[in-house]
Amino acid sequence: MNNKKAYYITTPIYYVNDVPHIGHAYTTIAADTMARYKRLRGFDVLFTTGTDEHGQKIAKSAENLGIEPIELANRVVLKFRNLWPVLNIKEDDFIRTTEKRHEIVVQKIFNRLYEKGDIYKGEYEGWYCVPCETFWPESQIEGNKCPDCGRPLEKYKEESYFFRMSQYQEKLLQYIEQHPDCIQPESRKNEIVRFIQNGLKDQSVTRIKSSLNWGIDVPFDNQHVVYVWFDALINYLTVAGYGTDDRKFNFYWPEAVHLIGKDILRFHTIIWFTMLMAADIQPPKLVFSHGWWTIEGEKMSKSKGNVIDPYQVAEEFGPDAFRYFLLRELSFGQDGNFSRQLLIQRINYDLANDLGNLLSRTIAMTRIFCQGKIPEIQDKEEEVDRELRTLAGDTVDQVIKNMDTMAFNLALENIWTLVRRTNKYIDQTEPWVLGKDHAKTKRLNHVINYLAESLRIVSILVYPFIPMTAVKMWSQLGIKEEIEQMFIPEDTRWGKIQVGTRVNPGENLFPRIIEIKESEQDKSAQERDIIAKQDKEKVGTKKMDTISIEEFKRLDLRVGKVLSAEDIPGTQKLLKLKVDFKTEERTLVAGIKQYYSPESLINKNIVVIFNLEPATIRGIQSQGMLLAASDQDQVVLLTTEKDVDPGSKIR
Ligand code: ME8
Ligand code: MG
Repeated sequence: MNNKKAYYITTPIYYVNDVPHIGHAYTTIAADTMARYKRLRGFDVLFTTGTDEHGQKIAKSAENLGIEPIELANRVVLKFRNLWPVLNIKEDDFIRTTEKRHEIVVQKIFNRLYEKGDIYKGEYEGWYCVPCETFWPESQIEGNKCPDCGRPLEKYKEESYFFRMSQYQEKLLQYIEQHPDCIQPESRKNEIVRFIQNGLKDQSVTRIKSSLNWGIDVPFDNQHVVYVWFDALINYLTVAGYGTDDRKFNFYWPEAVHLIGKDILRFHTIIWFTMLMAADIQPPKLVFSHGWWTIEGEKMSKSKGNVIDPYQVAEEFGPDAFRYFLLRELSFGQDGNFSRQLLIQRINYDLANDLGNLLSRTIAMTRIFCQGKIPEIQDKEEEVDRELRTLAGDTVDQVIKNMDTMAFNLALENIWTLVRRTNKYIDQTEPWVLGKDHAKTKRLNHVINYLAESLRIVSILVYPFIPMTAVKMWSQLGIKEEIEQMFIPEDTRWGKIQVGTRVNPGENLFPRIIEIKESEQDKSAQERDIIAKQDKEKVGTKKMDTISIEEFKRLDLRVGKVLSAEDIPGTQKLLKLKVDFKTEERTLVAGIKQYYSPESLINKNIVVIFNLEPATIRGIQSQGMLLAASDQDQVVLLTTEKDVDPGSKIR
């Protein structure tokens, strides 16, 4: 194929009886991040996902809807396929188990095991959990309940083909012992080992068509369909080219890494590994089972109505913020809790404050002090410079170490240590002070160069996690190369930024989110400020703070003309305004609904803080804040005494 090393990473293939939720998004985001990271490390990556479309669960859901199973699958598969681009996920292949290419491989493996004598015909007697698609022998159940999920079981006694899984018990234990890292985390591997040691039974691998007619036909007996898990696991072979493209398969296969949730670890180790052994195929290199998300502290369930829709989170907060949160918040392998509050905190602190500010400060200073071009370094480093450069180098090493063990949260922590250190570097070097003194131009240039260089390295490091943001950073830094063509560690070595590159000031990476608390439902942030001010005046004990004229000059106050105004439903005080400033049109959220009807505002001149950091209020980005006077009873807009051009400055 080429000189690159292979890396093959998969997600589970998801059932099509239900729409995607946060759990599906989580595994797939993790896999996408790993795929992007390995590409930066120079690997030839195959990253696959897909849908699991056969079996009783799908058949029942379709029946309840009064449609054919394939119709249900065709409908729901789009919800998955279309979600991935929304989350900046770029899979190389998407497999549906109803595709012909898959049927061929399943039948091939089934035949092979049958011919070897590892599959035989028998009679199945036992219990079946439909939601889990799992058979349970009499010996393992109590009171007709599924030992995994606790839901009622259905009794079956029917003809079935069996896979001689019991024959592989010792071989499997040996294999795991010789490949101690093939199941992770370690604690879950130990559970699996204990389970195997308790004894493996033969596994029923078909259903008779008279009881389930939705699956792949057993090749030599058209009265049976293949059991959905036997079918589904084989997807990992199909997408890697097994039986159809030997070169591809031999290149990728031994390198397979399966990311899964802890709920399906037994299938992916015990059944899957023994199936592969029977087919004389090496088990995958790694099965990594991650933990489960709860929602605001509770188990996610349809009946509780707390299922998180990834489309909605991505729309409200942006895909990169969602990706960042899921991978930053907990260690891969542990259970975690999704909460809106925590997500917003991560956005405001880590993304807006630390990363977003670092970029906008750096770009602004490059513009102001260096004519918008990356300047040259001076001959000698100072101690602060050396510290920053050394930390960048250490960060790269640590990120590599942590990513290689899928410790996404630690890798992000490493990167943010560098981001925060770089912000501190600005405070220590005080470029605005250097900028006042011509004798210090060389030093100033050096500092700006180091800031840009640190951000260049950070961009590459964050790219696997928040790819869209990394591309934006890269473009604001003015770097022309494609970020996805970079290599770690080669391109993350210090000193690669090109002097003379012209920066491109752009929008804020992450506007801060101002969330209105339940108890303050009706108060906008701006209004809260007004009230706080009133309170302060009433108390009247605080000494008046003074500001310098310089500080005042930092305020960009402008006149805007209201083009339109509309109610923000569900709020008591908020209106959404469109305002003309001549050079641009902006959206403002204002807490004045009780004092002004939307119509009365049209064409009014208002006074706006034009350079206020944008804030998202009720999902709407407010780009500036209008000024109003308030007393006990009312809020009154500031306007101009005569009509002036929109955009006029207030000095
Ligand atoms: O099991 N937290 O499909 P599935 C984290 N078709 N991850 C979660 C989660 C949660 N609360 N809930 C689900 C199947 N997941 C089979 C797989 S593979 C050959 C066949 C994730 O639609 C996690 O990855 O029920 C889990 O393994 C997967 O969704 C199960 O998806
Ligand atoms: Mg499930």
